[in-house]
Amino acid sequence: MRRVEISPSLLAADFGYVMRDVESVTPYCKYLHLDVMDGHFVPNVSFGIPVIKAIRKHSNLIFDTHLMISNPEEYIESFAEAGSDYITFHVECTDDPKSLIEKIRACGKKAGISIHPNTPEEALYPFLYKDAVDLILVMSVIPGFGGQTYMHEASSRLKSYREKLDFYGSEAILSVDGGINERTIVEASNSGANLIVAGSAVFGKADPGFAAKNLYAVLGED
Ligand code: DX5
Ligand code: ZN
Repeated sequence: MRRVEISPSLLAADFGYVMRDVESVTPYCKYLHLDVMDGHFVPNVSFGIPVIKAIRKHSNLIFDTHLMISNPEEYIESFAEAGSDYITFHVECTDDPKSLIEKIRACGKKAGISIHPNTPEEALYPFLYKDAVDLILVMSVIPGFGGQTYMHEASSRLKSYREKLDFYGSEAILSVDGGINERTIVEASNSGANLIVAGSAVFGKADPGFAAKNLYAVLGED
């Protein structure tokens, strides 16, 4: 059976105690989701290159960087050098996603592509072929803020993408982001996601490590 992993989203952490929060999830999680927002593609600003670089010095987690920024092609090298392992950009932010994927891979990193809920599902069909990309990120909320409600339409997208990825023999990770809690995590996993981003449901809790462990238990993963 396909192993499902949780990628805790740092956006919901206490930034005054950021390493305390990262260390809390480290015994249970392999990934760390890093939301970069530019106040242009999304109506919010979060953190960027220096923060990722600083956390990289103290963490061996797989850094799953989610760029919610316009002109992502201008910043790939910087996010690679900062210590990202996966660099995911939005299909809405470039006219040439294939070159951007090549650029990320040329930096020695895994390339991801994400889709806004308002963008037609078909926009990612060219990336479901074997080796086209390393990660597909389905947004299950409008990007920009944590703590929103899961949009169930995302589940039908996940099912459709999962079917096609398997059909083409692609081993790309199928990730989902937004509104994950103890109920929606099961729906997302049953719909074919194998990397589930969770912000409020992990770092929004008093004990993020315990919250992550509990979500793995809900999934039936140890
Ligand atoms: C939203 C971000 C998400 C966010 C998820 O734009 O991409 O990663 O942190 O937060 P929750 O899990 O609280 O919906
Ligand atoms: Zn995200």
